[in-house]
This record gives sequence, structure tokens and C-alpha cells, in this order.
Amino acid sequence: MSKTFYIETFGCQMNVHDSEKVAGTLVAFGYRPVESPEEADLVLYNTCSIREKAAQKVFTRLNQFRKARTGGKIFGVLGCVGQQEGEKIFEAAPHVSLVVGSASYYRLPELLAQLERGERHVTGLSLDTDQTFDTEFTRRDNPFRAYITIIEGCDKHCAYCVVPFTRGPERSRTSQSVLGEARRLAEGGYTEIQLLGQNVNSYRDPSPARVSFAELLARVAEIPGIRRVRFTTSHPRDFTREIVEAIESHPKLCSHVHLPVQSGSSEVLRRMQREYSREQYLERIAWIRQSKRPISITTDIIVGFPGEREADFEQTLTLLDEVGYDSVFSFQYSPRPNTASLRLEDAVPEEEKGRRLRVLQERQKQIQLHRYEMFVGTVEEVLVEGRGGRESQWKGRTSHNIVLNFTVAEVQAGPVNLGDYWNVRITQAGPNSLVGEAVAGPVDSLGTPAAVAARPGPFSVLQ
Ligand code: 5AD
Ligand code: SF4
Repeated sequence: MSKTFYIETFGCQMNVHDSEKVAGTLVAFGYRPVESPEEADLVLYNTCSIREKAAQKVFTRLNQFRKARTGGKIFGVLGCVGQQEGEKIFEAAPHVSLVVGSASYYRLPELLAQLERGERHVTGLSLDTDQTFDTEFTRRDNPFRAYITIIEGCDKHCAYCVVPFTRGPERSRTSQSVLGEARRLAEGGYTEIQLLGQNVNSYRDPSPARVSFAELLARVAEIPGIRRVRFTTSHPRDFTREIVEAIESHPKLCSHVHLPVQSGSSEVLRRMQREYSREQYLERIAWIRQSKRPISITTDIIVGFPGEREADFEQTLTLLDEVGYDSVFSFQYSPRPNTASLRLEDAVPEEEKGRRLRVLQERQKQIQLHRYEMFVGTVEEVLVEGRGGRESQWKGRTSHNIVLNFTVAEVQAGPVNLGDYWNVRITQAGPNSLVGEAVAGPVDSLGTPAAVAARPGPFSVLQ
């Protein structure tokens, strides 16, 4: 009888991609994926612990299944909560048999074999590793956009962050291994590559080739068949001019940099142990803004970090105006286990954190609306990802990583396939997305109409 598995993922893109690799490894082991936990013999939760709320989700899920133990199902907790809580998970949820942190995924085949031998409690919790989880078995969920991990773990010491405790030390893959995977993906029809790492630009090629991060970006972009290259997340401290130059000279590198600032106050940044000041951050922004090609900048911000005064928060607001972000992910500070900020005094009250978050989001909404309006009248290339918000609309992202809903006029009507690239004239802007009408499409990598027969689609509609 074939064994079945179900995996649910919480958290960041690194987790999403880890789940693709775990799923691929399971399939190689003879497991078959199913659509719901009820149908599965093995139920896995790949968890996130970045904020308290995220970490709680897995316990909610596990509680839903307490009684299912008798059904002979095996439960596993993977990822950041698994690493953080370790064997305590077996006490909190006795029906769990497997707890594995991401730094031990390379041991999955061996851990699965232990499970299959009937061992009750199987763990992979060591953080002391220089291994990365490279596998040829990745089972990607999207047929045209592929993630590639280039660096795992984190050696920074941001005072609020659990990641160094959950993902282990920083370790990069060799450039040969990254480029080999990118080439295979291009041959398999993938056109967009997203290079991933907790601090993607801290990449250090461990091979004698010593390819820099900026050089790696350029080499991936030069692979025939690749049309878009993105990378996330960049750390301001390791952000170099070379990266901006690479984007400038390689049109296939998308016009977007995600550069988390966390706070606009140098004093808060110091307490956060971010190792840069507001001024140094703005210097990097200036490099990006001086680029010949307009590049969208997005960021992450934490409000209510211990000791954040009203005047510090005001500095974050003025930073929003000064930078002009195209999107901001903003969060209330959440105290996390093991982190240095637990020892800091002057906690900001919860209601005040909530107020600051609302003020910040309202300010950013106005900025975004203004910035998106500047796209009206321009033509942007979009990668079609699904149906749009309204009937007859399609949806995708521009090179700037902005969501674009668009329609196709009757005269051009031909099939619209997921994974196509279309040129779209922007007609309207909202605070979170753009609206437009296709002017040409599908287009090939030079922006000229593509031979329809050469396209692989149609794919089934993805979420
Ligand atoms: N509390 C709130 N937000 C956090 N982040 C990381 N740690 C915390 C925390 N303890 C945010 C940061 C980071 C993003 C992924 O999550 O802004 O960039
Ligand atoms: Fe969550 Fe951070 Fe772990 Fe990603 S690395 S899953 S964001 S805790």
C-alpha cells in the first residue's frame, strides 16, 4: 500500500521552498502527496516562529488532531518552531513523532527510515552543521517560477530575531551548484528564478571560484531561457553598489530590491544591533535611486521595539517619506525566546504598538498610492500568474514586483496562458495594485510577439 503525506507550510519563502524540497524527498521515498491531512498517513507542519502569533498556529493545528492518534497517523513538526521547542513538543502534543529543524533536513532520508522502523520519537535538532539541504528531488509547486536557496542560516545578531536560533549558522552553496540548478530549471521551462536566503546578499561562494553575490546574479540572468531573476532578503549591512550595477546592466534582473530597515531611528537600530545607522541605510537607498533604471524598494519595519520613543517612531515615519517605498511589511514587536531584546527594558504597551502600526500603515498607503499613480500611462511587462480580481481580468506581477490586474482586448484575444509574459498599459492605480490593458502579448524575451506554438501552456490555474 502506498504511503501518503500532507504538508502545510507557515512563514517565509524559505519555508515554502524547504517544503518543496521535503515533499520531493518524500516522493523519492515512495510517499504520495494528498490534498488534506485526513487522507494522509504522514502529516507535516513546516512552522514559523518569527512572532508569537505565527508560532501558535502549529499548536492550534496539532490540537485539532489530538484524537486522530488512534487512526495511526504520524505527525511531524518541521522548521522554526520544531527547532525552538525541540523535544518539548512531544510533551505538549504526544501524538507527534517527528521534530526536525531546517538545519537537519539533509538528514531526512535517515530520519524517515527511523520513523518507518516504528521509532516513537525521532528528532533532528542539531544546529552545529556546515551542511546545506541540496536535493535533486525538489517538488516545485509552480511551473514557471522557481526558488533556489543560495545561503542558509544567519550569523547576524539582531536583538529581536529568532532566526539564528532556529536556522543555524550561515552557510552558502557553491556557485557551481546554484548555477547548475538554475540551468536545469531553465531547461525545464522555468523562466523566473528567485534566489533565496535569510540574508541573500551575505552570500560567500565556498568554492575556489569565489563568485560574488552580484556576479552570481549576473550569471543566473545570462542563462538562456531565464527571463526574470529576483532575490530576497537583502541585509543593508552587506548591500553593495555592485548589486545595483548588476541590476543596471542586466535587464533580466528585476527592478526591485527588498531592503528591510526595521526602524528609521539610529538609536533604535543600535538597540536592535542592526549594525547600520539611518544615514548608512539612506546611503544605500541613494545608490539604488541613482540607478539608470527605476528600481522599486520595499522594506520590513518593526514598531514598538523596547525603548522606542514617540520621537524614534516619528523618525520611522519621515524615513517612509524620504525613501518612497513601493511596499512595506510592518509588524508590532513580539518578544521571542532566546533573543537579546528580552533583556531590554522600557517595553512599549500593546495598545501603543497597535496605534503606531495603524499610523504607519496609513502613511504608507498614501505614499504607495502616489507612487503607483506614477505608473499610469506606462507599459509594463507582466508574468501571468492567475485570474484577476474581476471577471475577464488576469493577474500577474511587474518587474517591480507590483500586482497588476489586466484585461485583453477582443482583437488580441487568443488564449492567455499562465506563465505568459504580456505587455500591459497601466490605466489605473490603487494603493496595493495596478490595473491595465494588454497592448501586446504574449511576448518573447525581446518584448516582441511570441510564436504561440512555442509556448508550453495552458497550465491549470494556480492559486
Ligand atoms: N517581532 C516582530 N517582528 C519581527 N520580525 C522579526 N522578528 C520580529 C519580532 N520579534 C520581522 C522583521 C523581519 C520580518 C521577516 O519579520 O521585520 O524583517
Ligand atoms: Fe519564520 Fe523566520 Fe523561520 Fe522563516 S526563518 S520560517 S520567517 S522564523
